[in-house]
Amino acid sequence: MKLPEKRMIIWIVSFIAVFIIACFIFVIVKDRTYFHSPPYTKESNKSSEVLVIYYSRSGNTEAMAREIARKFNADIIKIEAEKYSLDFQGWRNAGKDADQKVTETLIKPETVDMDKYSLIFLGSPIWWYRPAPPLWAFVAKNDFKGKNVVLFSTFNSRFKNQEIAEFKELVAKRKGRFMDHVYVRRGRVFYQKSGETLMKETREIIEERLNKWKKGS
Ligand SMILES: Cc1cc2nc3c(=O)[nH]c(=O)nc-3n(C[C@H](O)[C@H](O)[C@H](O)COP(=O)(O)O)c2cc1C
Repeated sequence: MKLPEKRMIIWIVSFIAVFIIACFIFVIVKDRTYFHSPPYTKESNKSSEVLVIYYSRSGNTEAMAREIARKFNADIIKIEAEKYSLDFQGWRNAGKDADQKVTETLIKPETVDMDKYSLIFLGSPIWWYRPAPPLWAFVAKNDFKGKNVVLFSTFNSRFKNQEIAEFKELVAKRKGRFMDHVYVRRGRVFYQKSGETLMKETREIIEERLNKWKKGS
């Protein structure tokens, strides 16, 4: 091979390597970027029959949770899971556990007294086509007897119906009545919807489904 050809190949290989590294860094930086949605505070102390419980690693499912809570003047609880911190190690743990379909992981709170609620919203990002481990862990440890349950989720591109069906089974096993699954697809990493669009779409979903949820059908 002649010298100019060799140089050309080295240039092309270097360019591809730099491009791949840049994409990787971009994905990692995006993954660590928390979307801070407007905080939610209950409008009045009037007791609500609706409870919103969610896990969110980077704020998107939280934005959805807050919009739902706002609509119902609901109580809201965030599930914390230190293992999936917003850093590289947390990301690796998240990927590994989701891939292995882990359903038991350390969460806070583990249990919640749901006596006074009739409608429970459960929220989670989708990891490897299914709700993230913290939500499975929460459902497994709680009693949903007599409760209507709606799952909500955010994700980039897709989930699998069979994974949602499995989650539905777990809710049924914990005596809950699974009513619905609503979600916002944010789009892939390089062309994602803004947080504002996510919140707007959530409000539209709520309006469309409100009657169904209220009727409990
Ligand atoms: C470990 C991991 C796995 C993911 N798997 C999927 C997936 O299978 N399908 C998908 O569309 N998005 C997937 N995503 C993207 C998240 O679902 C998406 O960014 C979500 O909106 C994040 O929600 P959060 O900000 O509330 O944590 C994954 C993200 C992580 C960190």
